[in-house]
Order: sequence, then structure tokens, then C-alpha cells
Amino acid sequence: MPNVRINSSRLNQTLQDLGRIGETPEGMQRIAFSPADIEGREYAISLMRQAGLETRIDPAGNIIGRKNGTVPGLPAIAMGSHTDTVPRGGKYDGALGVMGAIECVQALADNNVTLRHPVETLIFTNEEGTRFHRWLIGSRAMAGMLEPEDFTAIDDDGVTLSTRMADIGGDFSRVAEAARKPDELAAYLELHIEQGPTLHQSGIPIGVVTGITGRAVFEVEVIGTANHAGTTPMPDRRDALVSASRLVLAVNRLAADLETCRVATVGSIQAHPNAINVVPGRVSIGLEFRDLSMEALDAAEAELRQAAAEICQADGLEMEILRHRFSSSVPVQEDMQSLVEEAANLAGLGHTRLPSGAGHDAQAIATITNMAMLFVPSTDGISHAPQEYSTPQECADGAQVLLQLLILADERL
Ligand code: HGY
Ligand code: MN
Ligand code: MN
Repeated sequence: MPNVRINSSRLNQTLQDLGRIGETPEGMQRIAFSPADIEGREYAISLMRQAGLETRIDPAGNIIGRKNGTVPGLPAIAMGSHTDTVPRGGKYDGALGVMGAIECVQALADNNVTLRHPVETLIFTNEEGTRFHRWLIGSRAMAGMLEPEDFTAIDDDGVTLSTRMADIGGDFSRVAEAARKPDELAAYLELHIEQGPTLHQSGIPIGVVTGITGRAVFEVEVIGTANHAGTTPMPDRRDALVSASRLVLAVNRLAADLETCRVATVGSIQAHPNAINVVPGRVSIGLEFRDLSMEALDAAEAELRQAAAEICQADGLEMEILRHRFSSSVPVQEDMQSLVEEAANLAGLGHTRLPSGAGHDAQAIATITNMAMLFVPSTDGISHAPQEYSTPQECADGAQVLLQLLILADERL
């Protein structure tokens, strides 16, 4: 087994260099398909080429770096993540998995080691779904899991996904060609920050992911009556924002008591016409539930609809609930979890098993090949915020275990 070490200062330098692309005083703004996203993708491609990878962009805009192995005809072992961020996000979500994957290939090249399997480094398009409110676009395309709504998606600026894809070198008219055949990949390995508090609080450097959460996304239109804020008596109002607020509290209660699902979030709300002297006539809400159990997500949807019906009855207005997207939870195979533990042991690092409360490209790619995920700590458990941080040592530990995992997978698969 080759004894290769990643270069910690190089890895952390590339992370910081990527972190300057799309950086604003309010946090990272490398939104999918934006000029900053395109610049970040170009930077990552340059690093892939430096590491000796052949690069291409598939019709779904996914960036694929590839280096052949010593044994012809073997399926590839892929590593990767995403470089797009949420608005006002952090520098490590996705970026660590991409920079870590490239660093593994660079470290092998520095030591003149070529593995048996071809190795691929992947950057998936629009993992966050900030644009189009539909996430995992690139990884779902690679897994052949796109849905009809993905093809008709229009973003908040009125631009189609097809147009946005062309901006990043994709070609949505040929997106079916992005789907990989199951025999093309032997495994997909993703390094990611935990984005939660478990590892940071426990002081354990490596998380072995046991499963990735399911997610149910809804858009709700609350329809009342716009009216004059000064002349409309209180009993005569059909105030959409007051009723929406009651629904927000009902959604929070679904998870607060852990009775229905693990977490529930109302992440977006728009009042219309959004003027102080007008009783809001309409309110648009975006919300999501997450749980490893799909039955819990179905139960949460039933309770959401029940709560909405009761509020409408009491307040005399209507609500339209659109079930926007359901993403299935995905377990990680036991043998792949054990491989991550073995890699952490070989790197001399402590580890613990834990589920992922965040969604990842890995949950799409798991449907077409063996998948493993490993986490490093997030300081204070913060993520999707400018305060998101993992120390240079934590990042280097994660990349070293990823490299060890790649070498083990090359021998075992
Ligand atoms: O939202 C998520 O769970 C992921 O960060 N895209
Ligand atoms: Mn991520
Ligand atoms: Mn994220």
C-alpha cells in the first residue's frame, strides 16, 4: 500500500484562494451559474489540470477530471463535491470536498503513484439549489434522476435552466448524456464539513457518515385581501401575513417536540405588496422538513396540511400548498462505512459514526455506485453562514483520510 501524505499547506492555500472568489463582507456569494461561480469553476479546473487530470464538462455542467489507472477497463473511483454556495455562505461547504479530492490526486502525482482504477474528481452543478430552488441538479443528472420540473425550471430572474447551463459550458438539450452507466463508477467518495455540532463538541476529528437525510420542500401561498392599513377595521381584515405567521409557528412545533420529524424550517417568506400601509393580501412561504425516515416526512406533510386547514377556517382565507420536491434519504453501506473507519485508523485519527442532517451530492450518486462520506468538524457547528470554519489541521486530516480511503478502495473494489 503506497504511503503518501497530502500537502496540508497546499490544500489550505487552495481553499483560501477559492474562498476569495465570490467573497463579500456579508459572506460567500458564489451562487450557481453566477460569474463568481464560473470563476471558481475555472480555478478548480486549472488545479485539476496541474494535477495531471484530463478535464471535461458534461451536458449538465458537471466538471469531470480524470486520470487513467494501470489496469485497463476498470470502473473509476470518483471523489468530489460542489463549489457553489448558498447566499452569504461559508468557505468550506463543498469547497473542502473539491479541493481535498484534487489534493489527493496531486499528492499521488508528486509521489509518482498511479492507482489501478481510473480516478475522477467531480464538481457538481448547483448542489445548493439556490438558483431554481431545485438542488443537486448536476449530481441528479449524473444519476439519471432529473424530474420534469427540472426541465421547465425558471429562476428568480426569469431565466431558464437551459440558458444557465450554457453559461457554464453545459448543454441541457443533451442532459440525458450526463447520466453515468452503473458500470462506469466503482465508488464515489465525498469529504465534507459536518455542518453541525457533533464532531466539534466531541473533539473527534473524523465523522463516518451512516446515512444522508431525506428532505421535503414545500411552497405555500397564503391568500387574503389587500386593504388600507388605516381604514380597515381589525375584524374585517383577511391579513395574509398574520395567518402566515400562525403557519410558521405550527411548522416549528412539528419538529420542536421531535414528535413528527427531526427538523422543520421556514427559510423564506415574502409579503405582497410589502408596503407598510397595506394589509398584506398575499404571502409566499418556502419551507422544508428533514428526517432519515420518509414516513416521518409524509407525517409532517399531513400535519402541515391539517394546520393550514385549521388556520384558513379560523381566519377566513385560503392557502395553496405546493409539494415542491422530495429527496429520499440514503443509507451508507456497512462495508463502505467500515472502509472509512479503516482509512481513519491508518491515518491515526479518531472517528465516530453519525448521520448527515445536510443533503449532499453523494445521496444522488449513491443510487448508481458504492458511496462513502466522511466529515470533519465545523467550529461551533455553524454552516451556511460567514462564520463557517474548519481549522487547517481539520481540513488536512479530512483530506488525508480521503486519500487513504481512495487507496483502500483501489485495492479492495
Ligand atoms: O441544504 C443542504 O443540506 C446542503 O447544504 N445543500
Ligand atoms: Mn455541501
Ligand atoms: Mn450547503
